[in-house]
Amino acid sequence: MEDARHTLGLLLGTENDWPSVFEALVRRLGAVTDGSARVHHYDVERLTIEPFDLRDQPSYDLVIDRLAYWYYVPREWLKKVALMDGTYLLNSPFTFQAMEKHAAYCAMMRLGLKVPDTVLVPYKNPVEHTKYAYTAERYNRPFDLEAVAARVGYPLFMKPYDGGAWRGVSRIRNADELNRAYDESGEMLMHLQASVEGYDVFARSLSIGAETMVMKFDPDQPMHARYSVDHHFLSPEVGAEVTTIGRLVNAFFRWEFNSCETLVKDGNVHPIDYANACPDVAITSLHYYFPWAMKTLVKWSVFATASGRTATPHIDPTPWFTVADRPDLSYEEKLVAYRELADTYFETERYHDFCASRLPDVDKVVLEYIESGDFDRVLVETVTTTFPTHEHEQYVAHFRGLLALWAQDERNRLSPVA
Ligand SMILES: Nc1ncnc2c1ncn2[C@@H]1O[C@H](COP(=O)(O)OP(=O)(O)O)[C@@H](O)[C@H]1O
Ligand SMILES: [Mg+2]
Repeated sequence: MEDARHTLGLLLGTENDWPSVFEALVRRLGAVTDGSARVHHYDVERLTIEPFDLRDQPSYDLVIDRLAYWYYVPREWLKKVALMDGTYLLNSPFTFQAMEKHAAYCAMMRLGLKVPDTVLVPYKNPVEHTKYAYTAERYNRPFDLEAVAARVGYPLFMKPYDGGAWRGVSRIRNADELNRAYDESGEMLMHLQASVEGYDVFARSLSIGAETMVMKFDPDQPMHARYSVDHHFLSPEVGAEVTTIGRLVNAFFRWEFNSCETLVKDGNVHPIDYANACPDVAITSLHYYFPWAMKTLVKWSVFATASGRTATPHIDPTPWFTVADRPDLSYEEKLVAYRELADTYFETERYHDFCASRLPDVDKVVLEYIESGDFDRVLVETVTTTFPTHEHEQYVAHFRGLLALWAQDERNRLSPVA
């Protein structure tokens, strides 16, 4: 049987750290032999932006995208290759609109998740459109913002329906703050959302394909200190619930690379932001968890291309809603059923079998690389380009320490001392 050659494409913005690591890991992993003895070879290429003919055939088998969320040339290219060329995309470009958070809130409420009460309010400023004045006069109903807010209850969060990176998010305690924030919202379309006050812990999960890492998160810290290394900050039950929520959101929307934010209070898990398809995976954000993210991205990319998995661009909410509508099931039982649907979507069992039998060396490859001078050079370069000069020494030491801690834990995991 002839060998297969696959090109994995990377669509990138400003980042250079994780792409270099991804490229190095794929190179070090080498060829992969699938269950029918076929050998698969891998190349990684960074995509460039240029005119494209809609009938051109791309040379990419799979594309990992971190650019199309703000740059629409590649977004439209992604739609073309998803529809015409069978290119495997980790996130469906057709549900990108759901990154406008709003759609994700709707879907998750429909599935019975504990999303805080949320109201969408019309724009503060007129929409720039020649038809607006007439339409607004006829059909825009005047509304009492303070009364809407009072129904949601203070404190509340005002945030854009298509949020990301904290743009335009404010915590509102009274009518004065409400009016000020609404005035400032201008042309942004806003949600008012009940605040989960006094939560016990903020859990942020990063999912890549069939795997999920749940991390303790502190939104008040600067980027490099938001995730803390803590393996037991949730009870096993709550941890499983957070994982399930992340996976079900992803399976529902056809996302395989996404992060999900939940606030845990009195054992209840409240999802507040779970439409971050193509999340930040920088070394300087993920630190200790970075090797896991890179390894999983490599494993999932290889699985997706070497195991005959195909990407469907559409979503099918029907089986999910069938579970949601069953009156005989409790919330917990629905979560179990959602988890099964998600595992079916991700082919979780087949993925783990594939990794065990076809990628037996991947853990070793990643560990060796993370402890290599090659990786250290990427780390130093990333710190140098991320932090001001006087902080370089401090942060190189900081991130080296966290990565060394990961390597030590990984070594123990792979060959535990009796
Ligand atoms: N309903 C809420 N209850 C409590 N805190 C919230 C709520 N919504 C948002 N926040 C806080 O505001 C931050 C930003 O809101 P989020 O919805 O995550 O927006 P973004 O998409 O910009 O990240 C969250 O990380 C959290 O700290
Ligand atoms: Mg957020």
